[in-house]
Amino acid sequence: MKPINTLKMLKKAYSENYAVGAFNVNNMEIIQGIVSAAQELNSPVILQASSGARKYAGATYMRKLVEAACEESNVPIALHLDHGDTFELCKNCIDSGFTSVMIDGSALDYEGNIELTKKVVDYAHKYSVSVEGELGSLAGIEEKLNVSEEKSFYTDPEEVEDFVKKTGVDSLAVAIGTSHGAYKFKPGQSPKLRFDILDDISRRLPGFPIVLHGASSVIQAYVNEINNFGGNIKEAIGIPEDMLKDAAKKAVCKINVDSDLRLAMTAAIRKSLAENPSNFDPRKYLTPAREAIKEVVKHKIENVMGSKNKA
Ligand code: G3H
Ligand code: 13P
Ligand code: ZN
Repeated sequence: MKPINTLKMLKKAYSENYAVGAFNVNNMEIIQGIVSAAQELNSPVILQASSGARKYAGATYMRKLVEAACEESNVPIALHLDHGDTFELCKNCIDSGFTSVMIDGSALDYEGNIELTKKVVDYAHKYSVSVEGELGSLAGIEEKLNVSEEKSFYTDPEEVEDFVKKTGVDSLAVAIGTSHGAYKFKPGQSPKLRFDILDDISRRLPGFPIVLHGASSVIQAYVNEINNFGGNIKEAIGIPEDMLKDAAKKAVCKINVDSDLRLAMTAAIRKSLAENPSNFDPRKYLTPAREAIKEVVKHKIENVMGSKNKA
């Protein structure tokens, strides 16, 4: 199969109350681990590359690696640009075969975000490439914010209809309490997602796919394994998987996970190197690393996304 855009994928997810996992890819082993999990569980999947990932792997390698994965599998796979921040970057990805792009104008003011997002949508739609926009700020939520400061972090439901209408985006990333990276909440804090905001947004946008970024759960078993084998990851809490599972049953149709994959892969490599100190064959530690990616993605498909057998 060739990579496809996310339109049908997300529509089906919406109507059948599950989410498609969007996993960040940086190299061959990560791509292979994700796709073999999706294949085994007969699940659609989104492979997303950030601009940093494209720089690391090289734009051509990245695309060809994903094309190879698609050729060797028969589940629906989209190749998506994660956090595109300029029109030129999105255009470059569209021109080179990405089937979906995110234009993240969330750092701009509202009008600037609309203008940039619309420009990308107008170009992308000529080539049947789907576009994800973002409204709201995905910074970690500190405990001591007052109500109006806190409100400014979250997506304002009153803006969503106007934003979607004026830009023509196909999906929308929203801020309801998730944040990027492994340090989302401090120990002792209780993670919470603003389901009231999500419900308000989806009432205003019936049938429209919502995206959650920053949705890793910071799986403690991996953190412990990394630290047991010489790492130094400080205590942190991510988004509980049950909350994400609930979001997937609502309007959330795409859930982004990167940090949990990083933790799983690092834990496997540290363990392998610690247990086999004389090994210097990269294949010997990248094999368990690839297997760890496969296991964590299978876990997410089954326990968070609900996308098993939805290919
Ligand atoms: O949300 C960002 C993703 O985790 C990608 O991170 O820019 O380091 O590749 P990156
Ligand atoms: P995490 O850092 O929570 O995995 O989020 C990844 C993400 O949102 C990629 O766009
Ligand atoms: Zn993100």
